[in-house]
Amino acid sequence: MMLRRPRRNRKNEVIRSQARETKLGVENLIYPLFVVDGQNHKSEVKSLPGQFRYSLDNLLIEVEECMNLGVKCFDLFPAVDESLKDQYGTYSYSDQNFYLRYIKEVKSRFPEAVIMTDVALDPYSSDGHDGIVKDGKILNDETLEVLAKMSVAQANAGADIIGPSDMMDGRVEYIRDELDDNGHTDVSIMSYTAKYASAFYGPFRDALDSAPKFGDKKSYQMDPANKKEALVEAELDYIEGSDYMMVKPALCYLDVIHMLKEEFPIPIAAYNVSGEYAMLKAAAQMGWLEYDRAMPEMLLSIKRAGADVILTYFAKEYAQMVAQANV
Ligand code: PBG
Repeated sequence: MMLRRPRRNRKNEVIRSQARETKLGVENLIYPLFVVDGQNHKSEVKSLPGQFRYSLDNLLIEVEECMNLGVKCFDLFPAVDESLKDQYGTYSYSDQNFYLRYIKEVKSRFPEAVIMTDVALDPYSSDGHDGIVKDGKILNDETLEVLAKMSVAQANAGADIIGPSDMMDGRVEYIRDELDDNGHTDVSIMSYTAKYASAFYGPFRDALDSAPKFGDKKSYQMDPANKKEALVEAELDYIEGSDYMMVKPALCYLDVIHMLKEEFPIPIAAYNVSGEYAMLKAAAQMGWLEYDRAMPEMLLSIKRAGADVILTYFAKEYAQMVAQANV
């Protein structure tokens, strides 16, 4: 006799759906989009099939399509012309910055869209690093000032969530203070809390042409071997006032996502990064994986690990699958 037969709870889809522990909705997703100055521009990123750099006109079309599918939160990343980059990333807060104009424009066309921004020097830096470089070193405290200026400029443009991805020490508090001093007490911060020095950012750096010109990012991004250190970062971000905590990348760091979810009472985000997207797309193109099943399984695993919010290039496709009742 077997009293407990777990298979009974799997016997048909109605019962399986009652027993289902994790559900992933479109509302859990944030869609990263690359933007570029110009008009009538939409160029595919080679290493990210299905992802494009959009000029404003095409960005508005894309946002509208996503909104109609229920994807309402977007993380915008600027691809900046090399001639506008300098050592201090001054274009990031310049009045001329097309990225700030795009934010304003998207918010005015779609007031109910939630816009998240990226705060770091790399898209604007002639060194391709997230902070100011001096004698081959990444300066921490000097960088904070630029990050804060950039954040305030983005908030002025209408950004809802500021996303510091730079990994400088003390930046959340510094940015929070400056936002508040400039009347932006309602603007949220989603800090990249545990951002690892990962090989999975490659395609993103292709998209923005933002790879470091020398060295690597290991003196500020975390060592992939470390888990407890994420608690130090998380504790600081929590005290400094971050509204969400992000773990990045997602798939190789599900244990870290789980740990932060257990330890902290604020929403946990996970960034399903470019390399994770590219990996699955490539396998699907080769016919080696069943894309329509593997993609939702990947996203579900990130949610199951504890992420409340997932930043993913799959967001629109996932929403299309949901709309067609395909997941
Ligand atoms: C830049 C930044 C990176 C990503 C988001 N913001 C790249 C990096 O740190 O080099 C990566 C996103 C992705 O790979 O999808 N500060």
